[in-house]
Amino acid sequence: MLELVEKLYSTGDLSDGELAALIETDDKEATELLKEYADKTRQKSYGKKVFLRGLIEVSSYCKNNCLYCGIRRGNTEADRYRLSREDILKCCENGYELGFRTFVMQGGEDAFFTDEFLCPLISEIKAKYPDCAVTLSLGERSYESYKRLKEAGADRYLLRHEAAAQELYSKLHPEEMSLQNRKDCLFALRELGYQVGAGFMVGAPCQTTEHIIADLRFLQELQPQMIGIGPFVPHHKTPFADEKGGTLELTLRLLGILRLMFPKVLLPATTALGTIAPNGRELGLQTGCNVVMPNLSPVMVRKKYDLYDNKICTGEEAAECRGCLERRIESAGYEIAQERGDCIK
Ligand code: SAM
Ligand code: FES
Repeated sequence: MLELVEKLYSTGDLSDGELAALIETDDKEATELLKEYADKTRQKSYGKKVFLRGLIEVSSYCKNNCLYCGIRRGNTEADRYRLSREDILKCCENGYELGFRTFVMQGGEDAFFTDEFLCPLISEIKAKYPDCAVTLSLGERSYESYKRLKEAGADRYLLRHEAAAQELYSKLHPEEMSLQNRKDCLFALRELGYQVGAGFMVGAPCQTTEHIIADLRFLQELQPQMIGIGPFVPHHKTPFADEKGGTLELTLRLLGILRLMFPKVLLPATTALGTIAPNGRELGLQTGCNVVMPNLSPVMVRKKYDLYDNKICTGEEAAECRGCLERRIESAGYEIAQERGDCIK
């Protein structure tokens, strides 16, 4: 197994069979070596820097019904909210003071967030904070809409592909949703000049090693600037309430593999990883991650952006997210970089 890690480190790729073996191995030495090489690789490109993204959860309304997601349309008990323009600007003001140089507006697919609403807001944020990047994560939209939002000043777009294998995609989403459309959106975003983030959940119900390899191959084809992966965590009011969640071990394994396959990519240690293990994000940082996304949403709404059970950083203490993360990043041996944190070419 050690030779597979050596090969991945030196060539950046493996055959499907080799990837499967590495994904499934319980060889402790190989796991350690993968972690060591992942860290070496991130340090070669980014040193000890960790980039912060201030996450503003703009809406918990969603027209979609993804089977895994706590804010799916079918969850009639979900507490819905949406932030106003003023709320969002206030989050940015607060975030800028805290040292954030990227704002991520994320939400369910909420028809309230039209181009007419978003474009002037994006332009205003860019005018007020010209040294900041604006990232959107608002789901699938038309090419024309993505184009308008880009022209208004948006820099980046996060849209996890969720599952590149049709078989798995169909098990995680209702029939009305289309994998092809999701992929088309990602290629459109790339063509329009966005810095693009794709990704998937680890340990989603019915996910096999072959499905994960399909995800890795799709990411090689897309070559996104950012890759977001985190464990699937069940939500009690979804059809997957009784399914098992993704594990820390597999998520870390895949983060290490991704770092070696994509040496310069931006790789977040996600909130979901911090949810399944108290030191999950620190371990992520030590296994190739170089981004964290602290919550900048008003504390009042944080519990309502309820994607999965036991989500961290949603209580009163969360107002202090920035300080908490700074301590965690430093304890893991890294340092916060107060900059936009673009992907190096
Ligand atoms: N609506 C936008 C979209 O579809 O990209 C952004 C919001 S969506 C809630 C953000 C991400 O949350 C999804 O891409 C999905 O991977 C993740 N997510 C949803 N439910 C989850 C769960 N139960 N466990 C872990 N991650 C989940
Ligand atoms: Fe739309 Fe989760 S189903 S954000």
